[in-house]
Amino acid sequence: MAEVKKAKIVLDKDFKIGDVDKRLYGSFVEHLGRAVYGGIYEPGHPTADEDGFRQDVLDLVRELDVPIVRYPGGNFVSGYNWEDGIGPRENRPRRLELAWRTIETNEIGVNEFADWAKKANSEVMMAINLGTRGIDAARNLIEYCNHPGGTYWSDLRKSHGYAEPHNFKLWCLGNEMDGSWQIGHKTAEEYGRIALESAKVMKLVDPTIELVACGSSYRAMRTFPEWEAIILDHTYHYADYVSVHTYYGNRNNDLGSYLARSLDMDEFIKTVIATCDYIKAKKRSRKTINLSFDEWNVWFHSNEADRHIEPWTIAPPQLEDIYTFEDALLVGCMLITLLKHADRVKIACLAQLVNVIAPIMTRTGGGAWRQTIYYPFLHASKYGRGYVLNVVSQSPVYETSDFSDVPVLESTAVVNEENDELTIFAVNRDQEDVLELECDLRSFPNYEVVEHIVMVHEDVKAVNTEDNPNNVVPHNNGDASVKGNKLVSYLPKLSWNVIRLAKKRG
Ligand code: AHR
Repeated sequence: MAEVKKAKIVLDKDFKIGDVDKRLYGSFVEHLGRAVYGGIYEPGHPTADEDGFRQDVLDLVRELDVPIVRYPGGNFVSGYNWEDGIGPRENRPRRLELAWRTIETNEIGVNEFADWAKKANSEVMMAINLGTRGIDAARNLIEYCNHPGGTYWSDLRKSHGYAEPHNFKLWCLGNEMDGSWQIGHKTAEEYGRIALESAKVMKLVDPTIELVACGSSYRAMRTFPEWEAIILDHTYHYADYVSVHTYYGNRNNDLGSYLARSLDMDEFIKTVIATCDYIKAKKRSRKTINLSFDEWNVWFHSNEADRHIEPWTIAPPQLEDIYTFEDALLVGCMLITLLKHADRVKIACLAQLVNVIAPIMTRTGGGAWRQTIYYPFLHASKYGRGYVLNVVSQSPVYETSDFSDVPVLESTAVVNEENDELTIFAVNRDQEDVLELECDLRSFPNYEVVEHIVMVHEDVKAVNTEDNPNNVVPHNNGDASVKGNKLVSYLPKLSWNVIRLAKKRG
């Protein structure tokens, strides 16, 4: 009989990586496809409230507990005139939207989105247009949103029914400006200059804001990481974060390589951190630039269908990836990777939130349901708050055509001191075998297992649909148990695990 594969981890309270910034569980709503129209907003829908916001969607967003939502793009923002979306609806123009080649009705703009975010218990992470516009539009927008009153733009906001400023605290200086597809694409020098000057006026209007400069669109960009070095050289004084974006897909149907993509994400993060710190050293600065991983997810299922979508329609079904069980496993590995960098990755946005490469799907006029990837995100958002431990890990490894030494076990642990809780997040990447996990709990005496959540499915391509929404769901019958200062569990092959422990009461 073949021996059971074994992995070991050591958890020690004193091995602290960093506090989890709650904004690590952010998301993203772009004016794209059915994210806004038919997603968060659908007047006439049976669950729509007085503002036209779908309550069924809001309920799911609140369940995910998303503290911050990036808006309004994405590629969309690089051609967006924010003034089109304010004032009486009947006066708002319909525009050709060039990023996604649709018609934008502007029914929803910055004020309505702020209303929606309040209902979702989220903050808005607002992006400015550095594609077709620049310094002037940026200073007007922030005056409109954040200045209390007594000036042209702030009084205009008041006249639109918003007496109090929105006070958006986090702003993106454009979107993916390194990409040739971006409207108003720029070289690193060009972007560095306009980002610096826009940042300057924005912080003059409101010095309390934080700013995210655009990093590379993905790791394989030819200009990465020189782009980061140049743009940070320009913006270091004003920027607080640099953005990081990545999407993965299982195009070759090679599951071993697919599940190892989080190692690529890890390398990406390390290189961006190194580049930030290189500029810090070059400038002899005491300030540290942190990372805003403000677009990450799986994105590939919908690529072919999107090629056949008619241009110039309103809210067509673009980027509607239907996620499989294996996608949920990779999303779990990506969440673990983000947590492992909690000391430097302070913001992350699962891209996106509703319908467009999203954990939540809706049918226009119909129901709303949870995709497979909803669950690892929910678990991390619910139980991954506190501080992250530097987990010392020993695991069997495997090889793929793209990656060497891929650990079968991907794991991290988060301590919540307030509640005396410890949560282990773990993925068994093995396609054949159960993995015996032994966990040394040396500094957690008297901790017991509260719950061991497991997500498994015999079919890695299984999905959730409106008719079968509970096809892929977690259960809480995992076998983790503690004896003395050791936890033991047999993690099923290809499984997402959340092992929740707490100090025994009394
Ligand atoms: O999230 C979808 C798109 O991916 C965004 O608009 C863009 O920023 C990225 O390329």
